Amino acid sequence: MSASTAFTAAIVPAAGLGTRFLPTTKAVPKELLPVVDTPGIEYVAAEAAEAGATRLIIVTSPGKEAVAQYFQPRPELEKTLEARGKTALLDKVRRAPGLLAAETAIQEEALGLGHAVGCAEPNLRPEDEAVAVLLPDDLVLPTGVLARMAQVRAEKGGSVLCAVDVPLEEVSAYGVFDVEEIGEDDVKKVNGMVEKPPADQAPSTFAAAGRYLLDRAIFDALKRITPGAGGELQLTDAIALLISEGHPVHVVVHRGGRHDLGNPGGFLRAAVDFALDHPEYGPGLRAWLRDRVAD
Ligand code: G1P
Repeated sequence: MSASTAFTAAIVPAAGLGTRFLPTTKAVPKELLPVVDTPGIEYVAAEAAEAGATRLIIVTSPGKEAVAQYFQPRPELEKTLEARGKTALLDKVRRAPGLLAAETAIQEEALGLGHAVGCAEPNLRPEDEAVAVLLPDDLVLPTGVLARMAQVRAEKGGSVLCAVDVPLEEVSAYGVFDVEEIGEDDVKKVNGMVEKPPADQAPSTFAAAGRYLLDRAIFDALKRITPGAGGELQLTDAIALLISEGHPVHVVVHRGGRHDLGNPGGFLRAAVDFALDHPEYGPGLRAWLRDRVAD
């Protein structure tokens, strides 16, 4: 991959109110809720680091300082664990701060995902020709799609997103792509994109899955959009604007697993899925679930 197409900055929008997790989110940011014992946002940060990001730009809002704190070292706690010989716990505590360098951008008002991403522009460096955006509600499994997206950007330029093929009755929850086949199994050209269309108006069933590798041109487009679906400034609309101006956009189709941590139902599935694979909790949970379900 040439230096001009790689990325080192990953933006993670984490400024939302988390209304679907009230009342917990009165005090605890949604992004810190544990999937077994680890906050969802750590999995997303690890995925960004694995794909080559060295900087994590967390877009947060007043009152959600704990999200950024989570990525800072805790020397006192580390000392205590060290003194007690708790090396496994020490590794866990050090993991998030060791992944990449976290910094924050503040979104003062909840004006939409597009606005949140735009708030990170002052954090960019002159050499950042592209940035990754990872939505912390989405776990895309197994990881690796970002690396594939970077490869596609190196080949075709422009911006590259991750798509999943969803059932038609679910398209209205997503940004949906108007795609064109280009003779590649996992890559399609995008000719348009629409946020949360009714099923009968959706251009396809290929939906945005919360992973974006965006050319820096996105920040200029974000300044030129007006409120869209839900009255919010939508990232989808800025991407659609770039497409209409001839900016190349492609999707990598992800055919693996996925979890939606953005609502309690999806979050619980993710937690159960991860717990079943956990060496300590998995066997007991499996046996208990069998009994519970048989009741
Ligand atoms: C956001 C995006 C949407 C995307 C989805 C993926 O919507 O606006 O385009 O498909 O994330 O999870 P949200 O789920 O925040 O409403």
